[in-house]
Amino acid sequence: MNPLFLGIETSCDETAAAVVAGGRSICSNVIFSQVPFHERYGGVVPELAAREHVSRLLPVVDEALRQAGVGLSALTGIGVTFGPGLIGSLMVGVETAKGLAFGAGLPLFGIHHLRAHLFANLLESDLQPPILCLLVSGGHTELVLWKAYGVYQRLGSTRDDAAGELLDKVARALDLPYPGGPQLERLAASGDPLRFAFPRALLDEPGFDFSFSGLKTAVLRALAHGAPAADVAAACQAAVVDVLVEKTRRAVAQTGERLVAIGGGVAANGLLRQRLEEAAQVDGFRLHFPPIALCTDNGAMVAAATFDAWQRNCPASLTLTAAADLPIESAG
Ligand code: KG4
Ligand code: ZN
Repeated sequence: MNPLFLGIETSCDETAAAVVAGGRSICSNVIFSQVPFHERYGGVVPELAAREHVSRLLPVVDEALRQAGVGLSALTGIGVTFGPGLIGSLMVGVETAKGLAFGAGLPLFGIHHLRAHLFANLLESDLQPPILCLLVSGGHTELVLWKAYGVYQRLGSTRDDAAGELLDKVARALDLPYPGGPQLERLAASGDPLRFAFPRALLDEPGFDFSFSGLKTAVLRALAHGAPAADVAAACQAAVVDVLVEKTRRAVAQTGERLVAIGGGVAANGLLRQRLEEAAQVDGFRLHFPPIALCTDNGAMVAAATFDAWQRNCPASLTLTAAADLPIESAG
């Protein structure tokens, strides 16, 4: 029988749980978004996010099991995101998962949040590592060589802001509602990306690090001088995408890896998808994106990563603790 895993995700502001069969096939995927709750503050309030997880998580787990048509006893194990992320939010997921696993006599698996984003690419697909991965989320921007199951090598990461963080901050300065990335994308559609030549940092340096804080300063300065919002949004988005695409192309050239996958919330961005598809055609690499709905935080990607942790025989003990910072190479 196909092993069934429950995946629990509470690292930021989505309370999510899902059941996945055989690491690839989604039986249920329930997400309770806290966006309306944090909207009035213009961003995630960590303490409130943790409290919301406390009240929402068990009903979300129940609903995921109900939609999958199974009880806890039908599961092979339970996986939970234990880092990186907001510490209070992570703790709610980890402690709940421990209680469920202990109560049901099931093995528990601690899942790395960014690895889970990469596993979103394996859901409903036949992809296998080695894969060159561009990870672009609200808190992280990294190029990672996923060499084999359980083996990750970080090629580079941001030295300051993450791509999603930058888009969120610029959107906030533009008075767009949170979360800013999708709103900024919508506004950018009516703007002229060539109106401003915003900086594209570290393109003149070798290596795969990113830096977006100079771009943020330039964009905020343009806004302070009364630049039109749509043009600023379009030029800012173009600058971010240029850097992400160019560094990815260089990583393909340098590593020789011909399969590229994208993970994290910013992977939902239409311009990034389009520009990477063009690059894939020109450079001759194979490109994979998760479906839009699986780019942002969800439980299905955690359940898929749990299947892998189970296959590699890497269970966690009931002393598992949440970790706000957790390098992708380090976890299990
Ligand atoms: O992966 P994710 O759901 O949460 C983290 O792990 O951080 O990513 C959230 C980030 C936010 O910064 C959000 O603005 C961004 O993904 N995002 C987008 C789009 N959809 C979500 N950024 C650009 N374009 C989008 N369509
Ligand atoms: Zn995420």
